[in-house]
Amino acid sequence: MKRKYKGFFITLEGPDGCGKTTQSKLLKEALMEKGFKVLHTREPGGTFFAEDVRRIILNPDYKISPLAELLLYEASRAQHTEEVIRPGLEKGECIICERYGDATIAYQGYGRGIALSLIEQLNSIATENLIPDLTIVLDIPAEEGLRRIKKMKGKNGGDRLELESLYFHQRVRKGYFAIAKKNPKRVKILSAKGIVKELHQKILKEIESKIK
Ligand SMILES: Nc1ncnc2c1ncn2[C@@H]1O[C@H](COP(=O)(O)OP(=O)(O)O)[C@@H](O)[C@H]1O
Ligand SMILES: [Mg+2]
Repeated sequence: MKRKYKGFFITLEGPDGCGKTTQSKLLKEALMEKGFKVLHTREPGGTFFAEDVRRIILNPDYKISPLAELLLYEASRAQHTEEVIRPGLEKGECIICERYGDATIAYQGYGRGIALSLIEQLNSIATENLIPDLTIVLDIPAEEGLRRIKKMKGKNGGDRLELESLYFHQRVRKGYFAIAKKNPKRVKILSAKGIVKELHQKILKEIESKIK
């Protein structure tokens, strides 16, 4: 595959609790062992400023309108893309990013009901049309993802998005299915229900077939 940058841009997506952080860490180690320079980052966040935006977006004490929420995500994405992702790709780094533009389509589009065309437009503006080389969606039923989050954070834990209803998270999951259907070359769905190490091997296989 012909790429614009020396580096390779991988995003991990999927509902809350699907295993993005767990798999990103394993993936980083595996790619480093293969000799790649790897940067593991996340959205919202990934820069000093954008991590502050993250704290605002995810704070359950705030009441944030869907449009304000969307614009905060895009503001954090603009900073993160300009400051971290694009320079990393120019230097030849392999970037592993937890969530990117697809998450906004799934959560703010399918979850909140904002027009997909508006989000697509804002994603293009915020990233200056930077699209991942490969996106892995870790698929899990909404109930199971939320169960994992509760187990990890305690019964009353969870950020502002994680505390949304089951129905919201089911819509998000459907959103990811639709994204994968629309972008079959870039987006691969893998079941996140299996054993951590087996899933890791499947992710590595997907990457190896593209990174050459
Ligand atoms: N394949 C798996 N099977 C069972 N539990 C898992 C699996 N992957 C991750 N977990 C657990 O689920 C919780 C959420 O995982 P995490 O990687 O933080 O998900 P995310 O970053 O997608 O929210 C953690 O407690 C993690 O240990
Ligand atoms: Mg995580």
